[in-house]
Amino acid sequence: MAKNWSPDSWRSKPALQMPNYPDQAALEATEARLASFPPLVFAGEARALKDHLARVCKGEAFLLQGGDCAESFAEHGADNIRDFFRVFLQMAAVLTFGASKPVVKVGRIAGQFAKPRSADMETKGEESLPSYRGDVVNGIEFTADARIPDPERQIMAYRQSAATLNLIRAFAQGGYANLNHVHEWTLDFVKNSPQAERYEELASRITETLGFMRAVGMDPENNPKLRETDFYTSHEALLLGYEQALTREDSISGDPFATSGHMIWIGDRTRQPDHGHVEYCRGVKNPIGLKCGPSTTVDGLLELCDILSPDNEPGRLTLIARFGHDKVQEHLPELVRAIKREGKNVVWSCDPMHGNTISAAGYKTRPFDYVMGEVNSFFDVHDAEGTIAGGVHVEMTGKDVTECTGGARAVTDDDLGSRYHTHCDPRLNADQSLELAFLLADRLKKAKQGTTSQSKAA
Ligand code: PEP
Ligand code: CO
Repeated sequence: MAKNWSPDSWRSKPALQMPNYPDQAALEATEARLASFPPLVFAGEARALKDHLARVCKGEAFLLQGGDCAESFAEHGADNIRDFFRVFLQMAAVLTFGASKPVVKVGRIAGQFAKPRSADMETKGEESLPSYRGDVVNGIEFTADARIPDPERQIMAYRQSAATLNLIRAFAQGGYANLNHVHEWTLDFVKNSPQAERYEELASRITETLGFMRAVGMDPENNPKLRETDFYTSHEALLLGYEQALTREDSISGDPFATSGHMIWIGDRTRQPDHGHVEYCRGVKNPIGLKCGPSTTVDGLLELCDILSPDNEPGRLTLIARFGHDKVQEHLPELVRAIKREGKNVVWSCDPMHGNTISAAGYKTRPFDYVMGEVNSFFDVHDAEGTIAGGVHVEMTGKDVTECTGGARAVTDDDLGSRYHTHCDPRLNADQSLELAFLLADRLKKAKQGTTSQSKAA
């Protein structure tokens, strides 16, 4: 166990972005109930994810992490989960083919309910109300009642996470992810887009390869790797009472694990080294993500690495860079250099969403070009420094929403109002997600060819 740590040691530290529950007794009763519930994920699964991430750390695999900015109670349904899973599988297929590496699949799902906010209050006209902090805390409706933090919502979030996870496990292990179905993952509304055409081509090549493999005796029926996939869950560990209530001791190792999801991360606003969020995360043995933004300094980052990954275990720590397309070059190189110089084993992943949010036509949006711009700059920096660009972290949905602008089927500022459904930040729609995967795959393929020709030359 980490030194001087317990599941509740965060309580003696300051913690930002935590809701003020008016009824403490009700909150404590809810936390006690949650503490008696079964774990959502198992320690062995979180350990397996850490092993996969250790491979990403060495450049032997690529991390794809993505999902809603905020899951919502209102949008909880089988179709949403299935459509998200389909696009995610498509992206993973595209990336596996491009990178010729396994893709480690981690959803922002089955627990991504708590949101940090830049302002405590939201004002509309004359009225100011406490900000919406995610469905696990309060309601999105702009009424005084809805905005009161309600502990019962934690029970709802737990139950929704369990149901979501149940369906995902069935999809991942029950045949849906079978590579024989690679043609069937395309969603109807994507069918006549340029991405769909490219995807069909790639799916046909996969099918052809499967035919060859079958001929030499390896088919999905006798090879689980072709029939099933490993899919992991993740969310921001923001609501620490909920996280504490779901902390369990692993019966094999005796180590404490967050069982609310396989991987948890610390957000850009709550990574103060002496505060509660870092305190909670340092003690659980799950893979941990840490958002790094423009205010991250070299010394600050190295200090956090020491606190969060004292054993420097590969796979333990994923640094999620989210600077903004125009700030990557200014901030990332010195951080990457310091991590390399100090020999820290980390996965570097790129979140090209949170530094690229702008306002247009009265909506929060993200231009697709900015998103791709940040991804490309992130890769440029790692190419220049000789380090590994390990993965991407995106906000996306399987739905045909109009929340981010641009992409091949250009969503314009004027389109934003037509299908803007997110409960928090704007997400890439299915088309834009697939387009990002293809552009990324091209980049990964080039990088691989670069390495091949370099090693040939050597
Ligand atoms: C998020 O991932 O939804 C988020 C709030 O990110 P960040 O902490 O990087 O701003
Ligand atoms: Co977000």
